[in-house]
Amino acid sequence: MSNPIRVLPLAFLLSVAAAAQVPQSIPNGLPTWAYNIPDKVQPPTVAATGAVRLPGSSQEYDATRVASGSNPPDWFPDEHGPAPRVVKGEAGVALQACGACHLMSGQGHPESADIAGLPVEYVVRQMKYFKDGARKDDTRMGPIAKATSEEDVRQAAEYFAAIKPIPWVKVIETSTPPKTYVSAAARHRLVVPGGGTEPIGHRIIETPVDPVRTANRDPHSPFLAYVPPGSIAKGGALVKTGSSGKTIQCAICHGDDLKGLGDVPRIAGLQPVYIARQLIGMQNGSSAGTAAALMKKVVSGLSEDDIISISAYLGSLSPQ
Ligand code: HEC
Ligand code: HEC
Repeated sequence: MSNPIRVLPLAFLLSVAAAAQVPQSIPNGLPTWAYNIPDKVQPPTVAATGAVRLPGSSQEYDATRVASGSNPPDWFPDEHGPAPRVVKGEAGVALQACGACHLMSGQGHPESADIAGLPVEYVVRQMKYFKDGARKDDTRMGPIAKATSEEDVRQAAEYFAAIKPIPWVKVIETSTPPKTYVSAAARHRLVVPGGGTEPIGHRIIETPVDPVRTANRDPHSPFLAYVPPGSIAKGGALVKTGSSGKTIQCAICHGDDLKGLGDVPRIAGLQPVYIARQLIGMQNGSSAGTAAALMKKVVSGLSEDDIISISAYLGSLSPQ
């Protein structure tokens, strides 16, 4: 195994922070844990400089390039097709490159979305929703969708649709996860150094397996999702049988193995905190387009604990 230079990712953190500092709000009264709102107190980080390498990759990038939102590193260029200009970033492309936040693999981080292997028409539709505000993300996808041409959207959708997702999150049931904070720069939870553990309560807590590799946008370094004990089995029952009487079997529309059907997206193996955020968003009208009207009926009767359980179960499934 190669011996990567492991640097703390401050350059990355700072540059992403510049983009991410736009104040983010969550709809009133919704659970903050699902929205990755940065904590007030932030543990210090150290600047990354010089060459960065990752295990298994023959590429080497300067830390500033790794941190760049407009020209993201492509650690494993053999693992995907030729990247269109909006994905890899190119002069003349407005705002940030898709590959910066979603990674060149499309699998992204819990605060963004895993778009690898999603149906082309689904992605095109979401971009329309973001553009016209039916799906709300005023700080990231809204402006990006407005600035991206239909042709560029289609090329990006086709690129990501062709990528086969790898298992990207391990779901762990525990009542005492490590103490975490939401990093202002990374926008996801990181473990508080020496912080011990804390009660999980009614939350899903997601952290990178290796925060340095994740900060360096490594598409092979996955996430851990801590969920309350019993969530996976409870979620499995809700998804399969609708046993609480509140839910409709998800497989009818998302396919027998929940890996997608037609232009209805895969929900197996997505980041649990992302799934929860979308289901809560659909219940509250912040993630709704015409096609999402179908989902509104499905989610209307779900409690927050049901949503946590369903998200835990779906996250525990293989995406392939
Ligand atoms: C600055 C970071 C950033 C960049 C750059 C970015 N995205 Fe996103 N994307 C996000 C976030 C954050 C979300 C999740 C929004 C939410 O929670 O609803 C998202 C969600 C999405 C979704 C919805 C996924 C789903 O499963 O419904 C699609 C599709 C998408 N992005 C496509 C793109 C494309 C195509 C590009 C490039 C043109 C792009 N994104 C660039 C941050 C980004
Ligand atoms: C009647 C059909 C139908 C059923 C039943 C259904 N869904 Fe969906 N679901 C959809 C459609 C259609 C979309 C895409 C909506 C859009 O294009 O905006 C969707 C989208 C989603 C998304 C967003 C995916 C993403 O990448 O952002 C999640 C999460 C989801 N469904 C979960 C579920 C769960 C969990 C169940 C069962 C409790 C379920 N769905 C049952 C039709 C359905």
